[in-house]
Order: sequence, then structure tokens, then C-alpha cells
Amino acid sequence: MKSINTLFVVFFSVLCWAAACSSEQASRTSASAETSRAKLTPDGMAVFRQYCITCHGSDGKLGLNGAKDLTVSPLTKEERINIITNGRKMMTPFKEVLSPEEILAVADYTLSLKK
Ligand code: HEC
Repeated sequence: MKSINTLFVVFFSVLCWAAACSSEQASRTSASAETSRAKLTPDGMAVFRQYCITCHGSDGKLGLNGAKDLTVSPLTKEERINIITNGRKMMTPFKEVLSPEEILAVADYTLSLKK
């Protein structure tokens, strides 16, 4: 009887160890999937900080060189993508500078400035 109890203890500790191990592995896999997804999706805020704040300011309101206040702009995402890609008046086109994915990300970011 005693030996059966010992067997149970050993069996359960192996089971717990295996469960802990596999869940740890699962969380590690999902974390690495997240980092690779972050690499695929450009950071719109980083793009904005690097290329746009010279005229639009860090909050989108600066309006230098006749730039529009992005926080009140009524434009849709498609119209923003078009302006960022091809430029307009004093705004330089970004199609040679940014990838389409970066333009999409920064267009999304300008929409997020709207409160
Ligand atoms: C050289 C200065 C300059 C830079 C740099 C610049 N812009 Fe502009 N932007 C302007 C000007 C000027 C306008 C207004 C154009 C017009 O009068 O039609 C404008 C307009 C816009 C509009 C349209 C707003 C509206 O309501 O009409 C968006 C969206 C925009 N910019 C996004 C960006 C983004 C995103 C970047 C960075 C990738 C950027 N801009 C960089 C000057 C700039």
C-alpha cells in the first residue's frame, strides 16, 4: 500500500513538472511570435517622430510651412495615405523615403492623434 502511494507521488510530480514545462514553452513561443510581428509592422509613431514633426510637430498641431493641424483633419485614412505618398503643396512626397507599410502605419498614427 505504501509503495503505491509513493508511486502516486512520483507520478504526480512528474505530471506537474511536465505541465509547468510545456506551459513555459508555450509562453516563450508566443512571446517570440509577438516580437517578429512587431518587426513586420512598422511603428507609425517612430516614423512620425523621424519624418513628420519638423512641420507637423510631435502632437500634429505645429503647422509649420503651412502644414495642416493633423488633430482636426477630416481626411480619411486613404486620403492621408495619398497625401503622404504623393505630397501636396509644401509637403514633400514620401514614396521614395518610406515603404507602403510605413506610410500605412504613419497614416494610422496621424488618425490616432485625433481625439
Ligand atoms: C516640409 C514640411 C512637411 C513635412 C515634413 C510633412 N508634412 Fe504633412 N503637410 C505639410 C503641409 C504644408 C500640408 C498641407 C498641404 C496642403 O495645403 O494641402 C500637409 C498636410 C498633411 C496632411 C493632410 C492634412 C489635411 O487635413 O489636409 C497629412 C495627413 C499629413 N500632412 C501627414 C504627414 C505625415 C504623416 C508626414 C510624415 C511622413 C508629413 N505630413 C510630413 C507639410 C509637411
